[in-house]
Amino acid sequence: MKVTFKIWRQEGPDDIGAIRDYEVDGLTEDMSFLEALDHLNELLVLKNEKVIAYEHDCREGICGQCGVFINGRAHGPNDNMTTCQLHMRSFNDGDAIVVEPWRAASFPVIKDLIVDRSAFDRIIEQGAYITAKTGTAPEANAILIPKEISDNAMDAAACIGCGACVATCKNSSAALFTAAKINHFNRLPQGKAEEHKRVKEMTYQMEIEGFGSCTFTGACEIECPEGISINNIAEMNARYTKSKLLG
Ligand code: FES
Repeated sequence: MKVTFKIWRQEGPDDIGAIRDYEVDGLTEDMSFLEALDHLNELLVLKNEKVIAYEHDCREGICGQCGVFINGRAHGPNDNMTTCQLHMRSFNDGDAIVVEPWRAASFPVIKDLIVDRSAFDRIIEQGAYITAKTGTAPEANAILIPKEISDNAMDAAACIGCGACVATCKNSSAALFTAAKINHFNRLPQGKAEEHKRVKEMTYQMEIEGFGSCTFTGACEIECPEGISINNIAEMNARYTKSKLLG
């Protein structure tokens, strides 16, 4: 299998950057997309050229490190899938494949396909934790949380913080990410102690990081590899209003 990768190369944050073409032969449809990029980097090493910088860690859709735009779509052509779960069988022999970093002012490019997503960390620092002493892990069936509530909390906790929602949104809004992190804790009894402080401080941090407002178009939900629902945003907004009314 042979494809032409058209990849964004940018030496550093102050470099203008440009798309560069790489014809790559010897790929198979069973290769993951990241393995195809690994193969390209091995060829670049043999030619004494600089390798392409891209992020990855778990390579199984858990860590959220590997997000890039592929042919204009976050994480590539398939729904509910991270870049590391994408395989070359989703492309055809002879295809041109455009690979770019996330595009958002709050996610500045560090190098090539790697962006700085530390703004997400700073939002999490504002409240995505609990102060209740939980001790060591208890027997799961001994925790008295109704299944419906724990399931709802887990639906929000599924967010892997990849940033596809921000990169896809016309306003570069982090509303889906922030809402998922808030609701994950606020839906659980253990998170009630900081419920109002959490929603106010995390949404405030979201604003000072420069993320835009929610557009209500729902693009974030469609491109989210975990299928996090935009209902989370409505819930966050309701919680925010309530927290402001309660002072
Ligand atoms: S490398 Fe961890 S989600 Fe892709």
